[in-house]
Amino acid sequence: MKTLPRVKLAMLPTALEEAPRLCKELDITLFVKRDDNTGLALGGNKARKLEYLVGEAVELGADTLITTGAPQSNHCRMTAAAAAKVGLACHLVLNGTALTVKQGNLLLDELLGAKVHFLGSDDASLAPARMQGLNDELTARGARPYLVPLGGSSPVGAVAYVMAIEELLTQSCGQNFDYIVHASGSAGTQAGLLAGVKSFGLPTRVIGISVSRPQLRLAREVLELCRDTLTHAGAQTRVEEDDVIVYDEYVGRGYGLPTEASTSALELFARREGIILDPVYTAKAAAGLIDLVRRGTIPAHSRVLFWHTGGMPALFADLAPHWGEKA
Ligand SMILES: Cc1ncc(COP(=O)(O)O)c(C=O)c1O
Repeated sequence: MKTLPRVKLAMLPTALEEAPRLCKELDITLFVKRDDNTGLALGGNKARKLEYLVGEAVELGADTLITTGAPQSNHCRMTAAAAAKVGLACHLVLNGTALTVKQGNLLLDELLGAKVHFLGSDDASLAPARMQGLNDELTARGARPYLVPLGGSSPVGAVAYVMAIEELLTQSCGQNFDYIVHASGSAGTQAGLLAGVKSFGLPTRVIGISVSRPQLRLAREVLELCRDTLTHAGAQTRVEEDDVIVYDEYVGRGYGLPTEASTSALELFARREGIILDPVYTAKAAAGLIDLVRRGTIPAHSRVLFWHTGGMPALFADLAPHWGEKA
């Protein structure tokens, strides 16, 4: 695998923790990969991706990061934190209109010194043009911006999850997992995990639980991004359509809107293991995990890894206003 530009942002390796009381409840062997504790400004999966994205930005001589997401985007909060840590300016284009009450991730964005620009619309498809406009304005004023894609989901960002599989291999001492289950939003985490599993020749199936996108769309995006990530990493491995597993039936009424199953999953993880999930991503992924086990799609006694991708600041925010399609 190629050596790629990288800056240190995350506290790695994250813990690999057994969940014995949930194992009993679900009749599987369950471990949790604690990427909620990546350390950067309350943690989460984006710290890994940003190590490579900011690595590239710094190598290109950038002095400003620009990215986008929903008002409660974890990705935006962590991009703001990465910029602060490395000494770059940060501009965030958030869906919706300005909120007067600052809570959760939005409160942290400002605390971290990011300049927040509201899109003035819930239509996230307008964000790329706004980011480009901002890029042009800042460039005209002498800045050197770097555009971080939505969710950090490009081959540059997703490669971090190939490396996360290498980290997992070191921790799990040759004991493979049958399944990895995680929340899948903008495809980068799943594409990277799948690229990692294939590159290291593991038998593990990576199951993405969609938090927003329909199955067909997300599966196609994961496959394309996985292939591009393998190319970017200089790996020769092939990945096929059958390798991509996405379930979209746990989204419920939409992105960020809790379901009965996600609320019970949130409570179950908290009350059995003292593990706090988030309402937007990981609670829906956990709802998927529980249902797939109960349906027998994940057979009893399987070795399962639940990849906890973070997101807890959203627990401390009113999730009702201004939902875009994706954080
Ligand atoms: C907490 C959390 N989990 C999972 C995801 C999904 O990751 P990806 O966008 O790489 O699919 C995100 C993305 O924003 C997130 O914030």
